[in-house]
Amino acid sequence: MNLDVVILAAGKGTRMRSQHAKVLHTLAGSSLIEHVMRTAAELKPRNLAVVVGHAAREVQAHVGDGPIWVQQTQQLGTGHAVKLAVEQLPDDGVVLVLYGDVPLVTLDALQRAIEAAARGGLGVITAEFYDPAELGRIVRDESDRILGIVEYKDASEEQRAIREINSGIIAAPGARLRKWLECIENDNAQGEYYLTDIVALAVSDGIDVEGVQAGDAQEVTGVNDRVQLAELERFFQMREAQRLMREGVTIADPERLDIRGHVSVGEDCYLDVNVVLQGAVTLGRGVHVGPGVVISDSEIGDNVEVHPHTVVEGAVVASNCSLGPFARIRAGTKLDDGVKIGNFVETKKAHLGAGTKASHLAYLGDAKVGAECNIGAGTITCNYDGVDKHETVIGDNVFIGTNSTLVAPVEVADDAFVAAGSSVTVKVERGDLAVGRAKQRNIKGWKRPGQRGETDTQRKK
Ligand code: UD1
Ligand code: CA
Repeated sequence: MNLDVVILAAGKGTRMRSQHAKVLHTLAGSSLIEHVMRTAAELKPRNLAVVVGHAAREVQAHVGDGPIWVQQTQQLGTGHAVKLAVEQLPDDGVVLVLYGDVPLVTLDALQRAIEAAARGGLGVITAEFYDPAELGRIVRDESDRILGIVEYKDASEEQRAIREINSGIIAAPGARLRKWLECIENDNAQGEYYLTDIVALAVSDGIDVEGVQAGDAQEVTGVNDRVQLAELERFFQMREAQRLMREGVTIADPERLDIRGHVSVGEDCYLDVNVVLQGAVTLGRGVHVGPGVVISDSEIGDNVEVHPHTVVEGAVVASNCSLGPFARIRAGTKLDDGVKIGNFVETKKAHLGAGTKASHLAYLGDAKVGAECNIGAGTITCNYDGVDKHETVIGDNVFIGTNSTLVAPVEVADDAFVAAGSSVTVKVERGDLAVGRAKQRNIKGWKRPGQRGETDTQRKK
């Protein structure tokens, strides 16, 4: 079976009250349309067509090359939009219609609808809503067969009482869909070409219409305003939290965790409140993440402790490390087993060998640090000369005294020792002590500056 997917994204989204296209608003760190496109991609379609109209350029720039772009300059209705798309597609396959503003639809429901279409029928994804508001209602006969879909604005009081709604997502054999779309009219309350009218046409052609019930209403809920966007965000987050808990993670409060990407976890991790995990994040076993921690695109090894309010991005952290509180581990950081990064320490493009400690207030950028080093408080690698970045190389078992500045490019060899307060500008050889600071002078009998005419005792008061 050949599958062609159509995503509708031409509508204005007036109720978002936004300068931006509705489908570009984000849910869990990705735009709504990215969610839909990702789901579509998992179905491995032969063609993917996206219908755009309002803010078409913005949407196209965001998505980039790949889909077939279909321009719908006037939004004459969902039926019109799909018609324009199928004109660009071969008619020997199954066409699946998705909505760019229905981000959480599941593969399971889609596959069932596609299977119905592959058997020659029409698959319609439906859901039961407690309050179906203005959604299209599914009309069935006494033996529960679907007869058609009636839009809220065209529905009778009796039809409005129906709680089964149309998600808008359908799958149909391409050639039949094309034929039905030729037949639909716009003589309805909204003067639009309704895609939903194909259901009644299928019924009169004697084609099976199969209602596929979604597992949760939220899976087929569209985003029309920012309130619904927030509701779907929380639904998504709870689903993710539950997945992680089932995989062996303890979560202090599943309502105060945000996953904005793909997270894979080992058993016995602990996530405290207000943790944000974004991009591709891997946590080993027994990783303990404190409150207010943000981790992006990083690999964290077994038994790592991430203390409160630490930010980790683009880092590879081996087992048994301790980070923070209040540490900033930036892109290109690689920490070997048992490294300790304490409070107010920033690392960037830095490789720290096993057992090395930088416990307080330091900046390690463009640095290679060996194993078992001690980086004192206030140590700065001066990696930038105003034009270029340079590297600091520190060997194994080195002691950098507090408040040292290491002016790169510079090297401190194994077992060397840098005295506190040094500015290191030349290589320190293996085992040497570097003292790179002005020698202290004490001035005997020195007098503090006082105001003119003032005696010493007056000043002291
Ligand atoms: C549609 C369905 C309704 C269903 C609801 C689910 C029709 C006639 N009605 O109603 O049964 O319950 O979705 O959310 O299909 N779009 C275009 N071009 C257009 C019109 C719409 O691309 O000319 C796109 C929109 O950008 C949006 C989607 O189609 O992504 C749905 O359009 P919308 O106007 O929200 O449809 P509803 O009236 O909500
Ligand atoms: Ca809608």
